Amino acid sequence: MDREAARARAEALRSKIEEADYRYYVLADPTIPDAEYDRLMRSLEELESEFPELASEDSPTQRVGGEPVSGFDKVRHSVPMLSLGNAFSEEEVRDFDRRIRERLDREEPIRFAVEPKLDGVALSLRYENGSLVRAATRGDGTTGEDVTHNARTIDAIPLRLRGEEYPKVLEVRGEVYMPKAGFEAFNEAAAERGDKTFANPRNAAAGSLRQHDPKLTAERPLAFFAYGLGEVDGAIPDAHGALLAELREWGLPVCPETRSVDGIDGCLEYYRDLGDRRNDLAYEIDGAVYKVDDFRLREELGFVSKAPRWALAHKYPAQEELTRVVTIEVQVGRTGALTPVARLEPVFVGGVTVTNVTLHNEDEIRRKDVRVGDTVVVRRAGDVIPQIVSVVPDRRPDDTVEFQMPETCPVCDSAVARMADEAVTRCTGGLFCAAQRKAALQHFASRGAMDIEGLGDKLIDQFVENDLLDTVADIYRLDKETLVDLDRLAEKSAQNLLDAIDRSRETELPRLLFALGIREVGEATARALARHFGNLDGLMAASREALEEVPDVGPVVAEHIAAFFSEPHNREVISELRQLGVKWPEGEGAAGPESDRLAGRTYVLTGTLESMTRDEAKDRLMALGAKVTGSVSKKTSAVIAGEKAGSKLTRAEELGVEILSEADLLALLEEG
Ligand code: IVH
Repeated sequence: MDREAARARAEALRSKIEEADYRYYVLADPTIPDAEYDRLMRSLEELESEFPELASEDSPTQRVGGEPVSGFDKVRHSVPMLSLGNAFSEEEVRDFDRRIRERLDREEPIRFAVEPKLDGVALSLRYENGSLVRAATRGDGTTGEDVTHNARTIDAIPLRLRGEEYPKVLEVRGEVYMPKAGFEAFNEAAAERGDKTFANPRNAAAGSLRQHDPKLTAERPLAFFAYGLGEVDGAIPDAHGALLAELREWGLPVCPETRSVDGIDGCLEYYRDLGDRRNDLAYEIDGAVYKVDDFRLREELGFVSKAPRWALAHKYPAQEELTRVVTIEVQVGRTGALTPVARLEPVFVGGVTVTNVTLHNEDEIRRKDVRVGDTVVVRRAGDVIPQIVSVVPDRRPDDTVEFQMPETCPVCDSAVARMADEAVTRCTGGLFCAAQRKAALQHFASRGAMDIEGLGDKLIDQFVENDLLDTVADIYRLDKETLVDLDRLAEKSAQNLLDAIDRSRETELPRLLFALGIREVGEATARALARHFGNLDGLMAASREALEEVPDVGPVVAEHIAAFFSEPHNREVISELRQLGVKWPEGEGAAGPESDRLAGRTYVLTGTLESMTRDEAKDRLMALGAKVTGSVSKKTSAVIAGEKAGSKLTRAEELGVEILSEADLLALLEEG
């Protein structure tokens, strides 16, 4: 190939790659498979190594990262990078709107552009004649640092603008962020290598952007959304919404959650809706940003100190806060597992007051090095249980106390043991241990098990403490007199409880099996066992080998099941349950009214359903033999999307996974 032909070919390859990047990062609508993309990239690399003079700075092959830099040059922003005023309450937001309308002397509602406040780091990208020439951090707003070498490695940032209609000089401002999934994967890999992990995606993005070696930055899963402009030489639209549309045309990714609304009520509605979906988004946000859409109005409004009068950040309650570990206690669970729990100075985080968090096990405590007296970062995001993210080392007092796992059970004083291949330490007391007994009873009565309404944790504690319940069979021996004697129960509630207990006598084999609390036997396994054996006696007599023939039962689970049924005490409890009138259908249909119509299919539920909770939907799908998982992959049969479905729906669309509506779900459940 001669030089001219090579140049033309390189240009053609670059255009194809850039088009693929645009479709992927800006339109979120990829058109070519990864393999094809890799082939284009490899052809271009080969061509450029044969004709090195073709390897221009803005070639997509240059993203892998160049030579390390020794420091960061200072960059002066000719248009300062401003900050945003904050609001935490509706009242402050309404004040913002009132001030604007007073200044503009307007009665009618203002049009606002609304977008998420992305939790990353601000970056200014300078394009001259369509080529990326510099990327700079915000710094103090006037002077930032040159991070061009690192910005070039971020795939979402175009090295060249698309088309020909862009301004001669275009400074685009936006946020570099690390998507949640990338952050988790990155931290996991770092921990495995024994490297430093990041406390949150924002720190990860900031740290990655300030690497001296761009090859390291290139390995970080960073992304970018544009939300504004700096210096411009050329024509641009006269409003924010239109500008963002133009930026997309030029190849810059814009957050898909961006909208335009009329008046402050529109902003507040957006805030609530975005807040509901906050945890389903693929990236962290810490608020919503409201910006006057019309640039002429913006000019009239101007600035106060470093923030514009025309924009406001409306923050969500923090999902991370600092507090102190008052003590670390140990709880004993159903299987005897000793779980260390940190008692905290109460802290308001993610919308609730948190007073204790589980530390899971000894290894986890050592890994995080949490000690009594430490100041810790507590995180609660959405419905996820609160957790300690990390210790703040600078705030560690001299007198902290390291946690020691007790040598005997704190509840029953039996010896504790930790198996070599397990992270958990367990009490060896079995049902002699009141804690294990209480937990076993709670589990037995729970909704997915025998479903005894009204037999809650508090009542069970009281029954156990008064020696009324020893084994689960004793539940069916309770009588009114005993119940009414307890100070907690009025006559009516005692009768209600007895009725509920009575109702639970008529059960189904899978429920009973699940209720027994055999280790590793969850609802799905219980159903598989019932379906396979059809009756309890067959199951109780089964060898390990026979158990392993059941779908989803491996050697470990088989071992737990066999061990459970070989324990004379457990056999005794089962025979007592039968004598006390607990019964279930056996043989054909022992697995309940359900079928295995959906066996082998995997569903993901996302968003809010109207006709049932997600838990119910999950139960009903599982009753038909389906698997229900939390994350979407190529193996997912379909994603069931309710109202306000978030990132899982997006993911399904990306992967081309089938998407079902709530109506489709109902049809699926009801099909003959
Ligand atoms: S606009 C004049 N829009 O928040 C307004 N900023 O406190 C300049 N940020 O440094 C910023 N998401 O890092 C804007 N949608 C968004 C944003 C956003 C996050 C950050 C940005 C900036 C800081 C301002």
